[in-house]
Amino acid sequence: MTCSFFWLYCFVPLLFGYGFAASFLSTHDQPYRTRFHFQPPRNWMNAPLIYKGVYHLFYQYNPKGVTWGNIVWAHSTSTDLVNWKPHSPIIHPSRPFDINGCWSGSATILATGRPAILYTGLDPRNRQVQNLAFPVNLSDPYLTEWAKSPHNPVIFPTLASHINETAFRDPSTAWMGPDKQWRVVVGSLRNQRGLALHFTSRDFMNWTQSKNPLHSVEGNGMWECPDFFPVSKNSTIGLDTSTPSGQNVKHVLKVSLDDTKKDYYTIGRYNIAEGKYVPDKGSVQNDSGLRYDYGKFYASKSFFDSEKKRRVLWGWVNESSTETDNKRKGWSGLQAIPRTLWIDKSRKQLIQWPIREIEKLRTKKVKLPSTVLKGGSVHEIIGVTAAQADVQVTFGISDFQKAQVLDPSWTDPQILCRKKGASVEGGLGPFGLLVLASKGLQEYTAVFFRIFKAHNHKYNNKYLVLMCSDQSRSSLNNEKGLDKITYGVFLKLDPLHETLALRSLIDHSIIESFGGGGKACITARVYPLLAVDADACIYAFNYGNESVQIKGNAWNLRTAMIK
Ligand SMILES: *[C@@H]1O[C@H](CO)[C@@H](O)[C@H](O)[C@H]1NC(C)=O
Ligand SMILES: *[C@@H]1O[C@H](CO)[C@@H](O)[C@H](O)[C@H]1NC(C)=O
Ligand SMILES: *[C@@H]1O[C@H](CO)[C@@H](O)[C@H](O)[C@H]1NC(C)=O
Ligand SMILES: *[C@@H]1O[C@H](CO)[C@@H](O)[C@H](O)[C@H]1NC(C)=O
Ligand SMILES: *[C@@H]1O[C@H](CO)[C@@H](O)[C@H](O)[C@H]1NC(C)=O
Ligand SMILES: *[C@@H]1O[C@H](CO)[C@@H](O)[C@H](O)[C@H]1NC(C)=O
Ligand SMILES: *[C@@H]1O[C@H](CO)[C@@H](O)[C@H](O)[C@H]1NC(C)=O
Repeated sequence: MTCSFFWLYCFVPLLFGYGFAASFLSTHDQPYRTRFHFQPPRNWMNAPLIYKGVYHLFYQYNPKGVTWGNIVWAHSTSTDLVNWKPHSPIIHPSRPFDINGCWSGSATILATGRPAILYTGLDPRNRQVQNLAFPVNLSDPYLTEWAKSPHNPVIFPTLASHINETAFRDPSTAWMGPDKQWRVVVGSLRNQRGLALHFTSRDFMNWTQSKNPLHSVEGNGMWECPDFFPVSKNSTIGLDTSTPSGQNVKHVLKVSLDDTKKDYYTIGRYNIAEGKYVPDKGSVQNDSGLRYDYGKFYASKSFFDSEKKRRVLWGWVNESSTETDNKRKGWSGLQAIPRTLWIDKSRKQLIQWPIREIEKLRTKKVKLPSTVLKGGSVHEIIGVTAAQADVQVTFGISDFQKAQVLDPSWTDPQILCRKKGASVEGGLGPFGLLVLASKGLQEYTAVFFRIFKAHNHKYNNKYLVLMCSDQSRSSLNNEKGLDKITYGVFLKLDPLHETLALRSLIDHSIIESFGGGGKACITARVYPLLAVDADACIYAFNYGNESVQIKGNAWNLRTAMIK
């Protein structure tokens, strides 16, 4: 498939404004509708952008029907990345170069300050070509009208190019080198090799394919939505996409693997003269490597927020429910809370943290006094609107002796989390939170840690922290096809010297969890039957046989204005 999946909205009123729909749909009818996440009618994010202080989100949308097709670029704007206002779609199929589809792409701010969009079009022969569009009125901060370039398609497969014409899509944001040439990459596939094909241009219109791709990996399958950007080695500030490589700058390449539906990234060195990116030693782009998120999160894209000097990551989050359920509820898919992103002190991975603006939705704060959670105990966090909350806790460990020894065969964290779910007692852990939990704990999603003694482990720590999100008890609904898989990751954190923290953003049917201050993220979708709205609870728990100390805060979160 493409960077263009479509989840269906049957509820026509929802298409025209959630505010209106919400006024007659009781929450009883829509228990899983989120309240502070961006949920486009039919989703797919294309291109985030900031222009004249206004954030823009463009996404794929089918205005005509409940099946895939008629794809247009829909458009919403925001001044805080939290509250959103809809506009009319900006790009429709209309010309030979996009008559069979206007698929994903990216926005770039040109040197003159003029925004440009490169997007994939499908021509009458269903070849994938790259097209250009510009805003009509540059004085309009909402950029409501766009015009397609008369030079389209600006990049297309030719016989000589050896480009696979049915696997050539999702142009990245472009960047400019010191030689004043623009560069862009487009995802592709040759045999089983995933490719980021590299093109250069002086004028953004006449593009020349480089001899070699920016990067490619054998066996990866199709690369969708490639994202390539610089990160500062010495600070958390974001860098403009055109910032050159140098002593203080590293580069990140993210690809979305069509075969696994996961987003992987590597950190490495960019040689602009050769048009080549080389991942650092040990940085690989597959299941042995790094992911932005170890739960549901795909087709993400980042942009440089020039006003707040940060790099912001947007990811798309699929449902875990069946297609029948999605049709019944009338919508499907949403955007994760935008995350600020920077490089970790180790320079071996990225750190992600929800944008500060989300904290504006916090209302009541509930302080959790420092409490000892004895082995086998559960402690309710009282006074929070548990279905719509922001919870931040830290766990203090004074005695590591009871940590279980890691069996050398336990190399896959997801399998380990599945085998040792939240209900399996241990030594140091499992401890964490039970969220979207029912009063009697018939339902809960457990986000938790386990600590193992790990001699000679590759992270060189004496102890290894496993972070899990266990959905197996998330709903009494046992319908076949409902995805309750458990997610897991080893957290690159030394619990002897670093604080073990957990933050979860809970929004009715989504739980976004950040371990170790954003060293690892897990996003889960769950559909409880009992733990809904006011009937949802949050608990802290410890099913290990060693005590841990917990403290932190929880906040009620208001509903954002998202239309
Ligand atoms: C362009 O946008 C500005 C700001 O919204 C508006 O005042 C002006 O009328 C627009 N120009 C045209 C030709 O539509
Ligand atoms: C071209 O892409 C298609 C998918 O659209 C794939 O099935 C085919 O194997 C690719 N061809 C080559 C030569 O890689
Ligand atoms: C396009 O760019 C290439 C490489 O810079 C150049 O050789 C060619 O003349 C240009 N073509 C046009 C039509 O401008
Ligand atoms: C840190 O890196 C940035 C580029 O990312 C550079 O501009 C700045 O001078 C560096 N600061 C120090 C103190 O090295
Ligand atoms: C990931 O890629 C590396 C290097 O290309 C390879 O050695 C390793 O076997 C791959 N792992 C998986 C799980 O595919
Ligand atoms: C979305 O989730 C459903 C249900 O878990 C799954 O069947 C489907 O493959 C997923 N699609 C993508 C693009 O991740
Ligand atoms: C604590 O749990 C671990 C792991 O289940 C077990 O091996 C150990 O015997 C337990 N210790 C005590 C004192 O119960």
